[in-house]
Amino acid sequence: MAPKKSKGLLGLIGKKKSKKSDSGARKDLRLFEAMRAGESFGDKELQRSAKDHLWMHFTRHSPYQTKDMTIITRAEGHYLWDSKGNKVIDGLSGLFAVNAGHGHQELADAAAKQMMELDFMPLWAYAHPRAIELAERLLSYAPKDLNRIFFTTGGGEAVETAWKIAKQYYKLKGKPTKTKVISRMTAYHGTSHGALSITGIAAMKAMFEPLVPSTIRVPNTNWYRSKHLFKSEEEFALWAANRIEEAILMEGPDTVAAFYVEPIQNSGGCFTAHPSYFKRVREICDKYDVVFVADETITGYGRSGEMFACERYGIEPDMMITAKAITSGTQPLGALFLKEKYFEPFTEGTTIFPHGYTFAAHPVACAVALANLDIYDREKLVDNVRTNSPIFRKTLEKLYDIPIVGDVRGDGYFFAIELVKNQETRETFTKEESEKLLRGFLNSAFYEAGLYCRADDRGDPVVQLAPPLTIGPKEFDELEQILRKVLTEAWKRV
Ligand SMILES: Cc1ncc(COP(=O)(O)O)c(C=O)c1O
Repeated sequence: MAPKKSKGLLGLIGKKKSKKSDSGARKDLRLFEAMRAGESFGDKELQRSAKDHLWMHFTRHSPYQTKDMTIITRAEGHYLWDSKGNKVIDGLSGLFAVNAGHGHQELADAAAKQMMELDFMPLWAYAHPRAIELAERLLSYAPKDLNRIFFTTGGGEAVETAWKIAKQYYKLKGKPTKTKVISRMTAYHGTSHGALSITGIAAMKAMFEPLVPSTIRVPNTNWYRSKHLFKSEEEFALWAANRIEEAILMEGPDTVAAFYVEPIQNSGGCFTAHPSYFKRVREICDKYDVVFVADETITGYGRSGEMFACERYGIEPDMMITAKAITSGTQPLGALFLKEKYFEPFTEGTTIFPHGYTFAAHPVACAVALANLDIYDREKLVDNVRTNSPIFRKTLEKLYDIPIVGDVRGDGYFFAIELVKNQETRETFTKEESEKLLRGFLNSAFYEAGLYCRADDRGDPVVQLAPPLTIGPKEFDELEQILRKVLTEAWKRV
């Protein structure tokens, strides 16, 4: 694309090229025609075509009747550029994915090389070297006892896959009624019907009911909103873990297949948990023969300060879901890690797991993942997070002098700032106030001030930060300055 002012295209605009679709609506293909004719085009043409043709994910389209979309055209390091020439800090690593930073030549080279060696083979009955190499390499970083990998193309597919494996495993083991999944309130685990059933965000599910039956929600570990009720965080953690046992007993242990948890829950704003929580979860899952699934779609690959958050918090899962940063977001890939015991029944007789995805373990994605892990090792990205995370936290905690900042929480390079009406009482905003604050002001104000991040109210209102793992104290200060400016202005509007 050439983000230059279009001359040639202006000619085409007069004689609008359009085609009739099946529904009878006219398709405006001026951008396509210009591209084919080698014409240059710019933001104006991209805006028009995007508004005419794109259906954006999780996006309100009504504002685009009157205002422009943000169209990101280029990325390098921890910066993004848009079609209007603005440069912003990528404070969310794309979508919790670009952990090694943008624009690595060696990832592009690995993709190109693989394209010419073996451009595509699915992992259906035939294997290929990059998938084999990657599985072994990934397992070298994995928590103990996880020694097999099922590849997918993303996190939600791995969430689905883990549930289906658990269900079939128990059928093969003579426990066919063990099918249900327990997960946590406000947790996000993906959007396909199974993964959405496990997701704990009611507003995201209502339109798609009936979903896959047999999922149950238990409390998450929102310590900020619970601390007045408990003597210590550990006591709260044990209380929360015991709710899982209660749910298993209520449903009947013979009916429960799995418990899903993010080591740091994203939705609701970076809910960490006292290590006793995960220890107790392990005990409960052992006691009732329930698969303990750690969803590390976001926390995996260094985000927490260890390669996997399971290692950081001493979590011993039966299955572990990873995706996103496995390729630093540059290729779609997910990897579900499992204990061998879940694979064993599938090695007998004619048994198969009738499940798979055309593009899972795509050779190009696997080659890029291997190159991405080389970058991790060489640039010591995980060490960088471990060393600098306390400085990141301290820098963000300076914001407590702005009355709207209620809580700064998280770990590694993954933090949330909860916004409140009153720091003392922790009073939160009504839905209407939150709507006005987040969508009426904050998201665009952050961007205009030079920061791509996310203000979110799937739980209480929070600002979410997950920058590339390459940054350090200098960039933390830059982030803090932008946050300070925007949150100070936000407080004036409360
Ligand atoms: C914890 C968790 N699980 C699953 C998913 C779904 O992943 P994907 O969008 O790759 O399907 C996400 C996405 O952000 C996630 O954060």
